[in-house]
Amino acid sequence: MTTPIPVSLRVNGERVDAHVLPRTNLADFLREHLQLTGTHVGCEHGVCGACTVRVNGEIVRSCLMLAAQAHGASVQTIEGLSDSGEVADLQAAFRDRNALQCGYCTPGMLMAAQDLLKQHAEPDRERIREHLSGNYCRCTGYQAIIDAVETTARTRAGRRP
Ligand code: FES
Ligand code: FES
Repeated sequence: MTTPIPVSLRVNGERVDAHVLPRTNLADFLREHLQLTGTHVGCEHGVCGACTVRVNGEIVRSCLMLAAQAHGASVQTIEGLSDSGEVADLQAAFRDRNALQCGYCTPGMLMAAQDLLKQHAEPDRERIREHLSGNYCRCTGYQAIIDAVETTARTRAGRRP
């Protein structure tokens, strides 16, 4: 029988101490141990981007990272970004532009889009497409998502959307 191992990390600013099985990935840890179910699980193979979270400021696919590897790290999930208001304008733009239908991809899309907007004040549509190319959406055809991110970038830059 495998023995659980202790992990300590910060999740959305709160310290978390837990015991996890060595094979538990970060996505399952967030969802099942902490009930942070905004982190979605699609492919479980690092392909779809539904499980995107921030670890020490960088976006990662949490299905590819073991919870034990997050020991000592600072993790932010979509709940943290949403509660802090950091992505409020991006969420509003997604709503206004109909950039979501089933919503399954949306938390990962928002995490990835916010990552882009932190790096580039006004990315063009090609750069937005490229940055989000690892986040799959089966519903929207992507155009509305690109529109929403572009609108947010323009608004943040003080220009008319
Ligand atoms: S569930 Fe992690 S990339 Fe698809
Ligand atoms: S809105 Fe359904 S997968 Fe993107």
